Amino acid sequence: MKRAVFPGSFDPVTNGHLDIIKRSLPLFDEVIVAVLNNPEKQHMFSADERCEIIREIAADQGLGDGRLSIESFSGLTADFAIKKSAAAIVRGIRAVQDYEYELRMALMNRRLAPGIETVFVMAAEEYSFVSSSLLKQVFSLGGDVSGLVPDKVKARMLAKLSR
Ligand code: PNS
Repeated sequence: MKRAVFPGSFDPVTNGHLDIIKRSLPLFDEVIVAVLNNPEKQHMFSADERCEIIREIAADQGLGDGRLSIESFSGLTADFAIKKSAAAIVRGIRAVQDYEYELRMALMNRRLAPGIETVFVMAAEEYSFVSSSLLKQVFSLGGDVSGLVPDKVKARMLAKLSR
């Protein structure tokens, strides 16, 4: 039984994240999307909302066939992965700029959890420039984010903004 943990902020989940989830599912028996709950950081959506959104989209897109779950966590990713008896931590790499940060994280996580490998999954080219933070910035300034997030996520963002 090979279980992977895909950690991140997912504020909000983008089509790039969903692409990584879809590419990870054939590689593992189970994938847990681990949504970081960090009260010190200002998020657009709460950890519960972020989990709920991903669950809803995953159900809409029929992802995982019961092999995909979504959980929030706080503290270290390595500790969460150990608790879940994960074989791997999945991270998406978009462009070469991601590599240095991801490498440092992977090596630190390996030190903290020596039995757990980080597996890098390359995002589709069309999402190589998409990040949640860029998306939020563009959206808050009135830019169109269609095609970069599922329509339901866009609707949730609109609802947040108009509140
Ligand atoms: O989606 P993000 O913001 O790029 O994800 C970063 C995340 C959540 C994977 C990273 O910040 C993380 O693992 N945070 C939990 C705390 C932790 O384990 N820090 C040490 C990382 S080596």
